[in-house]
Amino acid sequence: MKMTKILAMAGAVVLLSGLPVLAGEKTSVELGKKLFTSPGLGGSTNGKSCSSCHPGGAKLEKAAGNKNLGKLINHCITDTLGGNKIDGRGVEMKSLKLYIESLNQKKK
Ligand code: HEC
Repeated sequence: MKMTKILAMAGAVVLLSGLPVLAGEKTSVELGKKLFTSPGLGGSTNGKSCSSCHPGGAKLEKAAGNKNLGKLINHCITDTLGGNKIDGRGVEMKSLKLYIESLNQKKK
């Protein structure tokens, strides 16, 4: 395959994913919410987002305090979104955790 074609395809994937360019993004609940509701997490291409199955954080009520939250999140990214694991200590993961924890606090 020609290099230009490869680059064009890579560009299309980035555009389709609709994810923000993370450079300079800080860990925040808002970013977590954005990632939670955007398709393309972990390079997923099946068009689903976390909120497809967990609208408004459904089924995650007990997950907030779970020591393995990061693993559970990555499990859903690989198994339901068909994506690749994200860095457990990265901005994306930290933000997703914050968002899930913030949902839990509202219910209390
Ligand atoms: C195709 C549907 C689907 C998608 C998409 C999905 N999940 Fe899940 N998720 C599930 C199911 C099913 C479970 C099992 C728990 C249950 O049924 O109560 C689960 C469980 C979890 C749990 C563990 C909950 C607990 O208390 O044990 C976490 C955390 C989680 N998902 C986060 C996410 C995140 C973050 C995303 C987006 C990256 C995501 N999920 C995308 C279906 C999905």
